[in-house]
Amino acid sequence: MSTTIAAAPPQRLDEELDRAFERIGQTLEIDRCGIVQLDADSGSFLIRHQWTSDDRFRVSEDFDFLRTPWWLSKMMSGEGLVYSAVAELPAETAQDAAYLGEQLAQSSLGVPLTVGGRFVGFATFGSIRRARVWSSKIVSLTRLITRTMGDAIARKQSALEIARLRAELIRVSRVLTMGELAAAMAHELNQPLTAIVANAEAINDMLDDPEIDSDEVKAVLSDIVADGVRAGETVRRVKALVKGAETSKAPIVLDEVLGELARILRSDAIIRDVKLTIKSAAELPSVLADRIQLQQAVINLVMNGIDSVAERNGTLRAVSVLAAAPEEGWVQLEVQDTGGGIPADVKDRLFAPFFTTKREGTGMGLAITKSIVEAHGGRLAVSSNEHGGATFTIKLPAA
Ligand SMILES: Nc1ncnc2c1ncn2[C@@H]1O[C@H](COP(=O)(O)OP(=O)(O)O)[C@@H](O)[C@H]1O
Ligand SMILES: [Mg+2]
Repeated sequence: MSTTIAAAPPQRLDEELDRAFERIGQTLEIDRCGIVQLDADSGSFLIRHQWTSDDRFRVSEDFDFLRTPWWLSKMMSGEGLVYSAVAELPAETAQDAAYLGEQLAQSSLGVPLTVGGRFVGFATFGSIRRARVWSSKIVSLTRLITRTMGDAIARKQSALEIARLRAELIRVSRVLTMGELAAAMAHELNQPLTAIVANAEAINDMLDDPEIDSDEVKAVLSDIVADGVRAGETVRRVKALVKGAETSKAPIVLDEVLGELARILRSDAIIRDVKLTIKSAAELPSVLADRIQLQQAVINLVMNGIDSVAERNGTLRAVSVLAAAPEEGWVQLEVQDTGGGIPADVKDRLFAPFFTTKREGTGMGLAITKSIVEAHGGRLAVSSNEHGGATFTIKLPAA
């Protein structure tokens, strides 16, 4: 079942969770189970999913969880809660019990729900009518299920967030900055990676149990595989953000694009004390290109040049962009810097996604630039300057 939840597409997740609680409730022969989530806007706890064996046990929508402070403290501390009979409960539960009245479970299990380590609510599993003993197996199973649900909820949130981000990027149709791409990617990758780690830990816990259930281990392993695949999809999707559906090629006069680039990049260069020169040869043929993408490709190269120059204390701190057409039928954009140049041992890996030598680097700049250039039928090359520094050259077919 945890596999079904993990694989549920975001728009069907609520349905899947309702079904899951029904099955859990029936299998465990309990009376009530569900999820309560902390609403970040109002600061109150809201019931998101609830299954009961009988309507009598339903907790009403306006139940005020702040009036069950003992329970909440156990959830918010991350400790969780298990009791088999009301008689076991300590005195400080009096306030909770008074507010719950007949709804007080004779026996209950509460598991904190976290997303990326942050407390977002809890899952509860309760037997209202009778006391019962929760075996360690049931306890670890409910923890595992809750964890899987938390991961699935997180994924749904991030899918919505990505859709919003993407819509916004298209709407304003401006330059995709590396920062935005990196943020989108980090946001999306974080969930499957967190889930993978959590599931690996869960397996570790299961292996400690003398009665290992190999089916359960297999189910969790297949969740791990699914999350790994999902992470790969994320990378492909981010690539598509750059070169995918939004490509709209039109004849472009490079002079105009370079003028805009100068305005976009000027402040970065000034702040980092780098002299930025942008020049173009007379009479350049136009190219058929997506203006925003072409700008993004050059911006990535210039930012790398600035990074490289800024790292050194040299007196000559310059990055220059030169547009020319030295070859019939081709237009060429050279981005040259006076930075540290490229060590021979990294030259082969420069263009690979995620390759970076910078502490805060994403390693996506050159990969994206290369994919943009190639999507335009062009070539991207790198060479070392005679007096230090690197030159990246974009070649595009003339329109
Ligand atoms: N102009 C340059 N001079 C020296 N090294 C560079 C230059 N451009 C890129 N590199 C190297 O290539 C790596 C990958 O670049 P990139 O894909 O843009 O990712 P990031 O800038 O996030 O590190 C950099 O970390 C750096 O080591
Ligand atoms: Mg870069």
